[in-house]
Amino acid sequence: MYSFEGLGTHVRTCGTDLRAKKIQMRAAPSPRLHLFVCANRREGSPLGPGCGERGDALYDALKAEVAARRQHAEVWVTKTQCLGICPKRGATVARYPGDAPILSDVEVTGASALLDGPPASASTTETIWDAIERELSAIEELQTSKVLELARRLKPGLTMEDVQNPHDFPELDDPDWHYADGILTGMKSVTTAMRALRRRARKD
Ligand code: FES
Repeated sequence: MYSFEGLGTHVRTCGTDLRAKKIQMRAAPSPRLHLFVCANRREGSPLGPGCGERGDALYDALKAEVAARRQHAEVWVTKTQCLGICPKRGATVARYPGDAPILSDVEVTGASALLDGPPASASTTETIWDAIERELSAIEELQTSKVLELARRLKPGLTMEDVQNPHDFPELDDPDWHYADGILTGMKSVTTAMRALRRRARKD
């Protein structure tokens, strides 16, 4: 399963109870597609030179295509070391989620096609949940900016942290600001409820 759900809040690792130290981690929505592009270099090896420069070029082409499509949140591209299928041309690319086959001999001209749609074997259910979560996060981000912008009109220089403590700032006792902040609170509740539903759906 390809998910950050397990990172939740408190974790125990390496025999150290992070809970005791109150260390928190923030969960983030998974991308629709995560590509790992080999750019491994092997000098003078009988196994060949590795994907090296071809991998670098493919990585750059994929990043440029993601930027052109504005799919930064939806598609992640990561450079990696040898994936074990060393090609004579192009580079090797592993795709997640799911168990989609690793692609070898991928050339720069194939970069765009790699971004189209999820890997064939990706879990449709997971993809839908991820898409909902991405949408909710985007809407929430937009509303957060609106709340902060309104607050700064009432009292210039306020930070998001200030805005989270409105009782400290009498200037924020404004019906329009309260309305925008109420919408933001509602959105956060929807996101929390959606995540709870998702966790329940996984257990069923
Ligand atoms: S060097 Fe790229 S897959 Fe081995």
